[in-house]
Amino acid sequence: MASFFFVKKVSMHTHTIVVLSTDDGLVAEVSKALEADPSYRIIICQSEREAELRLNALEAHLLICGLDAVEDLSENILQKARIFHPLVARLLIGPAERAPDCAVLARNTGVYLYALRPAPIDLLQLFVKRALEVNELARRHRVLSRELKISMDDDLFNEGESLSVSGGVSQFEKLVYASPLMAELCAEAKQAAGTELPVLIQGETGTGKELLARAIHYNSARMNSPIHVQNCGGVSDDMLHSELFGHIRGAFTGAISDRLGLFRAADGGTVFLDEISEVSPSFQVSLLRFLQEGEVKPLGSDTISHSDVRVVAASNRSLAELVEKGEFRRDLYYRLKGFELTIPPLRSRREDIPALTQFFIEKYSGVVGRRVVGVAQDALIKLEAYQYPGNVRELESEIRRMVAVAEQGGYISARHLSSAIADAPVAPAEAGAFTPQGGNLKEMVESLERELVASTLVRTHWNQSKAAAELGLSRVGLANKIKRYGLQNA
Ligand SMILES: Nc1ncnc2c1ncn2[C@@H]1O[C@H](COP(=O)(O)OP(=O)(O)OP(=O)(O)O)[C@@H](O)[C@H]1O
Ligand SMILES: [Mg+2]
Repeated sequence: MASFFFVKKVSMHTHTIVVLSTDDGLVAEVSKALEADPSYRIIICQSEREAELRLNALEAHLLICGLDAVEDLSENILQKARIFHPLVARLLIGPAERAPDCAVLARNTGVYLYALRPAPIDLLQLFVKRALEVNELARRHRVLSRELKISMDDDLFNEGESLSVSGGVSQFEKLVYASPLMAELCAEAKQAAGTELPVLIQGETGTGKELLARAIHYNSARMNSPIHVQNCGGVSDDMLHSELFGHIRGAFTGAISDRLGLFRAADGGTVFLDEISEVSPSFQVSLLRFLQEGEVKPLGSDTISHSDVRVVAASNRSLAELVEKGEFRRDLYYRLKGFELTIPPLRSRREDIPALTQFFIEKYSGVVGRRVVGVAQDALIKLEAYQYPGNVRELESEIRRMVAVAEQGGYISARHLSSAIADAPVAPAEAGAFTPQGGNLKEMVESLERELVASTLVRTHWNQSKAAAELGLSRVGLANKIKRYGLQNA
């Protein structure tokens, strides 16, 4: 029979504190310390189960847990609260003679701090006040991070809308694109995000697999729970097992404390498994069991628990080919590819290059404190023609370096390019993929002029002062050309 009761009831409570202990002395000490502050609503519980029910039912701010009420040092309410109620601050109180147990439990469960009894009242009051402050800061940080992400996305989305002359720039979370290939892929990724199915993302190195995995998580119902990333390449089986499934103290040499493991830490959220092609055959079996049953068995433990995690995996080697060669389990492959998304290499979607170039210029202008206004046409032609074996990551490093060496307030231009890109051949069809229209020279020159003005306007987000400066025109001159060619900021 649940036996919680309210010690105090006033109308102006702003903090709900759950106190869990079977020790009357401890409850009396804590109540005495807290009752001086009318903003505290104190709820006493005598078992972990009761406390769990109260945490689930209330918007509690703090859990004060007596060591006496903790039955199992490795599986207990502090651990559960850490996972299911990350915004509830946690304090542990225990008798001085059990200080070593308190220290181990505090370390394993990440409590704010632990106090040893008997503790002076003013010290308890201070601990509670500080724990609540930390809790409030964590809450604000969470809200602000979320707001920042949304407002950044809004800004970029709006920019995308105002950008377009012929086809605009779009954004899926932090993924920037303008090509139809990426538009199609992002539409599919949004569909995948709306389901609970595992997702397999394939693509060459640097194409944005991790960025896409995060975008899927933040567009799924799991967005308010964590996404954890594990790189599976070059990691031993034991280490990988311990990272994902956890271990108990003493499971292997060096395992000095229990580890929760990412699958349990991400309960309710997403785990991103990078370089999935690299896991050993025996680890593939463990993964398969987890995907089928959600079962988590830490190394060295006989206890099986369950975790509700969506797995997004990535690989830059084709899993289908590895399956054919017998190097990857077919059943695991089918489990992983609830949705199979393949990001095309950058050289197959060159329409993304101007948009990404502008995006990285803005990003790194902010970072290196150097204002660069845009990219000159000669550089863009070269950037669009290059093959990019390192894909978007390679383009990003190139632009970061160019921004660092460009003149303050100027453009990045061909002379800032690295030799690999500057020396790459530009095929005529690739130099802007533009064929002049018209029956005579005048018409062809005009069609070229229209194309150059239009593409500069796109790149400068229709900032006419910037575009005019880049084209060497006055603002009035540019306005005349916009009118003459009927260009519109779609
Ligand atoms: N569409 C994009 N928009 C903006 N930035 C991008 C885009 N694609 C990739 N990037 C950037 O390129 C870099 C590489 O991306 P990411 O790490 O996601 O690639 P990856 O496919 O996981 O690479 P790897 O196979 O090497 O692990 C990152 O800095 C990322 O921010
Ligand atoms: Mg990656």
